[in-house]
Amino acid sequence: MQLSPHKRENVLPLPVVLISTVSKAGIRNAAPWGNITPILRPLDEIVLASWLRRDTLDNIRETGEFVVNVPPAAMVEEVMVCARNFPSEVDEFEEAGLIPRPSTAVAPPGIEGSIAWMECRLVEEITREKYALVIGKVVRLEVNDRYATAEGNMDLDAARPLCMVCDDNRIRFTYPVDAGRFALYSEMFIRKS
Ligand SMILES: Cc1cc2nc3c(=O)[nH]c(=O)nc-3n(C[C@H](O)[C@H](O)[C@H](O)COP(=O)(O)O)c2cc1C
Repeated sequence: MQLSPHKRENVLPLPVVLISTVSKAGIRNAAPWGNITPILRPLDEIVLASWLRRDTLDNIRETGEFVVNVPPAAMVEEVMVCARNFPSEVDEFEEAGLIPRPSTAVAPPGIEGSIAWMECRLVEEITREKYALVIGKVVRLEVNDRYATAEGNMDLDAARPLCMVCDDNRIRFTYPVDAGRFALYSEMFIRKS
């Protein structure tokens, strides 16, 4: 079955994160984000795509800082409250009942109960006609001990990180399960002749 090219998210599962920011006036904001990815392992930058009219983008432009919170699937109702289009003067932590978690390296708080927190500083914004790509440097990364093994790896069964697959009219929320196959990094570094 051939699909319209704009339905890429119907066939490509995405992570769902909550991006927390604070405006210059001190208003706390949190918004769900699917278009976000680390830029190549083992570097420390991430990139996210934002429509131009977003309080999140305004706040990142104003302050240069944001936190990428990785929510467990159990937080999906809070995620959906944050998806609503609140006016910029509304504190979305209060609206969604989010408990702020003081950050160490940046001003915006993280969200308590998340699986992990990436404290980020803006590196560069690439502005296109309809959207912006925001490149951020992760300056501090912490995983919630509750969802981590002793080695600091994610305990997938306990964490159930929220992901999404789009249908035509709906977002289907999901989470990954272990496929039972591990690969060494060395398997990926076959020398090109
Ligand atoms: C699961 C999910 C993923 C989303 N991903 C994005 C995204 O990648 N980029 C974007 O601009 N908006 C995305 N949105 C929409 C914003 O979260 C939504 O418009 C939100 O109200 C923006 O809040 P803000 O204006 O406070 O930043 C997503 C919404 C949901 C529910």
